[in-house]
Amino acid sequence: MHSQHLLFLGFILPALVFAHRSPPKKLLEAPSLFQVAAQPQSPLPIIELYKPVNVPESTTCNVQQILMVHTFASSYGVPYVGQYTPPECDFNNVVIEWTVTSAGRQFDRLAEMFLGDIEVWRTSTAEPTASGIIFRYQKDLSMYLSLWKAPQELIFSLNNVYDSTYTGAFNTTLTATFSYNAAKPAHADLILPITPQLGASGQPSIFTLPGDSATVQQTLPRNISHATVSIAATGQSNEEFWYTNALQSDIYTFESTVGTLIGYGPFREVQLYIDNMMAGVAWPFPVIFTGGIAPGFWRPVVGIDAYDLREYEIDITPFLPYLSDGKPHSFSIRVVGVDDNGGNGPATLSSDSINSYWLVNGKVFLFYGDEEYSGNHSPPTISTSPTIQTTSNIISTANGTNTTLYYTTTAKRTFTAKSSFGTWTQSLSYSNNGYLGQEGLASSNIQTTSGTSAAVLPSALDFSNTLSYTYPITANLTYASTNFTVFDAYVDYGLKISSSGRPDVSTYTLVSGPMDLIARQFGNAYYSSVANHSYSYGVMDKIFQEDSYGTPYSRHVKTDNVTITYDSTI
Ligand SMILES: *[C@@H]1O[C@H](CO)[C@@H](O)[C@H](O)[C@H]1NC(C)=O
Ligand SMILES: *[C@@H]1O[C@H](CO)[C@@H](O)[C@H](O)[C@H]1NC(C)=O
Ligand SMILES: *[C@@H]1O[C@H](CO)[C@@H](O)[C@H](O)[C@H]1NC(C)=O
Ligand SMILES: *[C@@H]1O[C@H](CO)[C@@H](O)[C@H](O)[C@H]1NC(C)=O
Ligand SMILES: *[C@@H]1O[C@H](CO)[C@@H](O)[C@H](O)[C@H]1NC(C)=O
Ligand SMILES: *[C@@H]1O[C@H](CO)[C@@H](O)[C@H](O)[C@H]1NC(C)=O
Ligand SMILES: *[C@@H]1O[C@H](CO)[C@@H](O)[C@H](O)[C@H]1NC(C)=O
Ligand SMILES: *[C@@H]1O[C@H](CO)[C@@H](O)[C@H](O)[C@H]1NC(C)=O
Repeated sequence: MHSQHLLFLGFILPALVFAHRSPPKKLLEAPSLFQVAAQPQSPLPIIELYKPVNVPESTTCNVQQILMVHTFASSYGVPYVGQYTPPECDFNNVVIEWTVTSAGRQFDRLAEMFLGDIEVWRTSTAEPTASGIIFRYQKDLSMYLSLWKAPQELIFSLNNVYDSTYTGAFNTTLTATFSYNAAKPAHADLILPITPQLGASGQPSIFTLPGDSATVQQTLPRNISHATVSIAATGQSNEEFWYTNALQSDIYTFESTVGTLIGYGPFREVQLYIDNMMAGVAWPFPVIFTGGIAPGFWRPVVGIDAYDLREYEIDITPFLPYLSDGKPHSFSIRVVGVDDNGGNGPATLSSDSINSYWLVNGKVFLFYGDEEYSGNHSPPTISTSPTIQTTSNIISTANGTNTTLYYTTTAKRTFTAKSSFGTWTQSLSYSNNGYLGQEGLASSNIQTTSGTSAAVLPSALDFSNTLSYTYPITANLTYASTNFTVFDAYVDYGLKISSSGRPDVSTYTLVSGPMDLIARQFGNAYYSSVANHSYSYGVMDKIFQEDSYGTPYSRHVKTDNVTITYDSTI
């Protein structure tokens, strides 16, 4: 990986529109409404930039199974449910591939795949065009090997609306390739859900916050040497563009022009608690879906992670002496936002300070050690110090008209949990400079998030690891007028990860062993919407570099209005 060739300037992210909400207060998300010149012979491929997944060559086992062939049309609340039966050969590697075609007018849709009560993949769809699109994604799901080894209810949820206005259905095929990897990556012996556990009733196991209590009781075996919790957390609706949200004290600043702003500030923290003790945190990455901000940005190359929403991992090994008592313990996920306490000073993080809504769940990956733990069951020593500050400054004219709002949010947290089994440390920092001008018609947010974590594990030395990441985003959006029909947008965002790696496949890095990733996408888009005829045009530059499994991969693509104009792969 040649990270020195890539500069992260301050980049971006803004606010968009809900085309079916009228009048739009803030642009949230736009469906595909524009027509691409008919190309009846071949659907337009919509790709994500990612390193191709390696399927190990194996003479002893190489079996492909079709897991699902299904059309998601009017599928709101109606997931696909199938029965999975493991192949008979000795496999330790599982790679899935999902192929989707669609034509018509449709929003992007979130989708989740479950084995029983446990979510194994969260993805989203590309938006179709009238003449049709096709997309395909491959993913290594070997970290769920202990689930794949037993028969499972396979539940695939893709909530789609299909009617005379939203005419795009998604025709999908999901296959899995089972093989034997001689490198034998480690895998968890046992995986426990932090979900509502609705698999038996054929429903997706996912919590909605605020509203649900995302808490479960789990009893761990006493012979665990290493444990991590992996969390999926996705903001939707008024939380989809949380990083552009205004401070709660400022939501009425432009009431007469753009209406009430979406509040609770631009910062969110996902928290894990074990028996009401904090066990670690995640500061979410701003995934932008294919209708996000302006659809023109994401065609024919989708945004970072749009087909594979990375999960957040928290090593809970320091809690194992406490948890290895044969008794149930509660595991709880919370999402907190910003109570700015009137502004200009210290703010408070609160689960009451988020809008609707976040989709969250998690699981505990458990690895057996050699013997049962027989020491005392004290909790780890936990120390954490969050700080969060906000400022806000409104410019108004002599007659009291608010013209411009500047607001900032900064946050820092360190977290440590320590016991005889190990130490888990996190250190995170964040800043967001927000701007709303032209009485609310122009907006800009410049945000950076960066962090490090380290697990030092005497109980499972091989699993000790370090991770660092940074994800800047700049998003600008300017409406042409107060009827909100036309806007220009600019986005520049990226993701850098550097991981020393673990012997198992990580739900965050998506690989086992060390990896370095640099992704960046930046460009401009235009959007216009009149009844039943919307149009979006975008120009983007997209870079993806990953070094993993000892091999580098790099792709640089430029797109202009549905066409790839430059494509270089190394
Ligand atoms: C983008 O492509 C569409 C469909 O081919 C075309 O109608 C439109 O004029 C193009 N826009 C620009 C700015 O080139
Ligand atoms: C989806 O499948 C249906 C039924 O087989 C077919 O009629 C339709 O053309 C397919 N649509 C696309 C976009 O592939
Ligand atoms: C650990 O405990 C579990 C559950 O009690 C048991 O099934 C498993 O065989 C044990 N593993 C080892 C390596 O002792
Ligand atoms: C100006 O902004 C302040 C703070 O948000 C708000 O209370 C006030 O109502 C706004 N004034 C007008 C005229 O909208
Ligand atoms: C306030 O003053 C600005 C110019 O400073 C003007 O454009 C606007 O129309 C005035 N608004 C009202 C409500 O008088
Ligand atoms: C984004 O908006 C900010 C604030 O208006 C402005 O300073 C910056 O130049 C804009 N960036 C782009 C690329 O338009
Ligand atoms: C929206 O406002 C612009 C500029 O004032 C105008 O040209 C356009 O016709 C308006 N569109 C609608 C649908 O009202
Ligand atoms: C938009 O399309 C819908 C459904 O096709 C139709 O009922 C409606 O009248 C159309 N609106 C306009 C303004 O053309």
